[in-house]
Amino acid sequence: MCGIVGYTGFRQAYPVVLKGLKRLEYRGYDSSGVAMVQPDGLALLKKKGKVAELEEFAIGKNLASQICIGHTRWATHGEPSDRNAHPHLSQSGEIAMIHNGIIENYAPIKAELIKKGYTFNSDTDTEVLLNFIDDIKKENACTLEEAVRIALKRIVGAYCILLVHKDDPETIIAARKGSPLVIGIGKGEHFLASDASPIIEYTKEVVYVNDYEIAIIKPDELILKNLGNEKQTPFVQKLDMELAAIEKGGYPHFMLKEIFEQPQTIFDCLRGRLLPQENNIILSGIDKYAAEITAANRIIIIACGTSWHAGLVAEYIIEELCRIPVEVEYASEFRYRNPIVQKGDVIIAISQSGETADTLVAIENAKEKGAIILGVVNVVGSSIARLSHAGAYTHAGHEIGVASTKAFTGQLAVLMMMAFKLGYAKGTISQERFTQLSQELSTVPEKVAKVLEQDDAVKAIALKYADARDFLYLGRGYNFPIALEGALKLKEISYIHAEGYPAAEMKHGPIALVDEHLPVVFVATKDSFHEKVVSNMQEIKARKGKIISIITEGDEVSPTLSDDVIVLPAIDEIIAPLINVIPLQLLSYHIGIAKGLDVDKPRNLAKSVTVE
Ligand code: AGP
Ligand code: GLU
Repeated sequence: MCGIVGYTGFRQAYPVVLKGLKRLEYRGYDSSGVAMVQPDGLALLKKKGKVAELEEFAIGKNLASQICIGHTRWATHGEPSDRNAHPHLSQSGEIAMIHNGIIENYAPIKAELIKKGYTFNSDTDTEVLLNFIDDIKKENACTLEEAVRIALKRIVGAYCILLVHKDDPETIIAARKGSPLVIGIGKGEHFLASDASPIIEYTKEVVYVNDYEIAIIKPDELILKNLGNEKQTPFVQKLDMELAAIEKGGYPHFMLKEIFEQPQTIFDCLRGRLLPQENNIILSGIDKYAAEITAANRIIIIACGTSWHAGLVAEYIIEELCRIPVEVEYASEFRYRNPIVQKGDVIIAISQSGETADTLVAIENAKEKGAIILGVVNVVGSSIARLSHAGAYTHAGHEIGVASTKAFTGQLAVLMMMAFKLGYAKGTISQERFTQLSQELSTVPEKVAKVLEQDDAVKAIALKYADARDFLYLGRGYNFPIALEGALKLKEISYIHAEGYPAAEMKHGPIALVDEHLPVVFVATKDSFHEKVVSNMQEIKARKGKIISIITEGDEVSPTLSDDVIVLPAIDEIIAPLINVIPLQLLSYHIGIAKGLDVDKPRNLAKSVTVE
């Protein structure tokens, strides 16, 4: 993961880069650092911990420079520490480099370099690549750009790297494969970053660098080349993003802001697509492949984490409404287990960031085998979006909280529209059912707003259980994946051990955990399985577990079995996951806050996992 920022131009570079690092901190916060070219050479500042520590450390130091590269790290090779923090300095002292990704074949290269007398100051794979470049530059007496090109031909793995040379106060050399890089184009200045958020306040003109491209960037010049040294024409795009979207807007945390944005983000996702009056759903990206999708023998959904949970909801819905077999795969498993993918299979890749390394490689493999790839992605222009044949963006806006909230409901909204549309086109649901589902889906933004009104009630429940050691989340059918998602949110935000389980499956093991100290959250809204879930509540109650239940208004039985209830507006069971997840997001937020934790940046996590 890691966040990468660079600047070369007429401004003082350090403040631009520091601000950018703060915006990218969601990608990693084990350490951070900057390198600047100054008249007497390279100046490096780096510090373990969050960017604020670096800022503090930099006070009083000489920061004058119009060129700077900066990094916020999520450690893969070597513990979080000052010495493993980026930028790294080459043995010659001439080059500083930052890196996002993993160099898989670092070990043999390191061995070669050690034989040549190189020593290493860190445990990172990054320093190996840097000294490899340094060595090539020395041996071939070539330019830094040439050395980078020669080195990268031998590299296996993923990288986005930025380099500066002590004798060149103008140029940043950048290259990428598998890790994202955006270049912002200003007048007499250029900005580089892992995503557009550090750039938008300066310019809206950007170039997304492609895999296997090297960029040579000076204040007035941007040259893109491939690894064969052929010039590429940069494709300049306009950013569709406002600064306000990446600021907290009065909320104490991004996570809370993003939870509360959901009535709007779901509305934005449905807008212009869900047209109940016209009996239509327009997903223009996907319409082009409508015939192939309706004829598919099988749909395979590939994702990780929260996005995988959205995929699981989609499996239940697509099989019910479209009668097409669906498999939901963890991308990390799928990519390594030689799966059977045939021409005509349809793959749906779900990803907030569009940069998750495992998901990206899994769909690359499936694409090679002839499958059609549909992307359900939040970040516009991201790698997964670009690799997909077609897709539908979730339009949730920039999600900064490391725990995914509004992106998840955006994914569900898109997947529901896809399923309704596909079922109707195939004739597996009637026009009446299509219209009814579409109308119900259009009421979601307002119902989510109603759920959010219960924030105080959820907070009171959170305070009651914040000291619990474990939690169990149970649900059946469409609500089973929501139980999984509730448990994941709690683990991420509060570090409390939580398990999500199908409510009935609980009898086959986890019931042994139940005693008077165990809070059990039931996602028990009214649906075809409701009576069964109520029986499962009885089973927990009989063993003195504490029951917190998420129920539908009008349910009179569940409250008699529950210690605490959260009552939600009624909605069709197929759409219910979209609103049922909201109180679970709030619950984990408030428990995290009650425990005094950094909910926006939970320990050990990073927003987008661009390493496998
Ligand atoms: C969500 O709260 C998690 N932090 C994580 O599970 C995430 O959903 C997963 O890494 C997938 O990311 P993506 O959607 O960007 O591909
Ligand atoms: N592999 C590098 C390190 O451990 C970069 C990590 C990353 O991009 O996540 O420092």
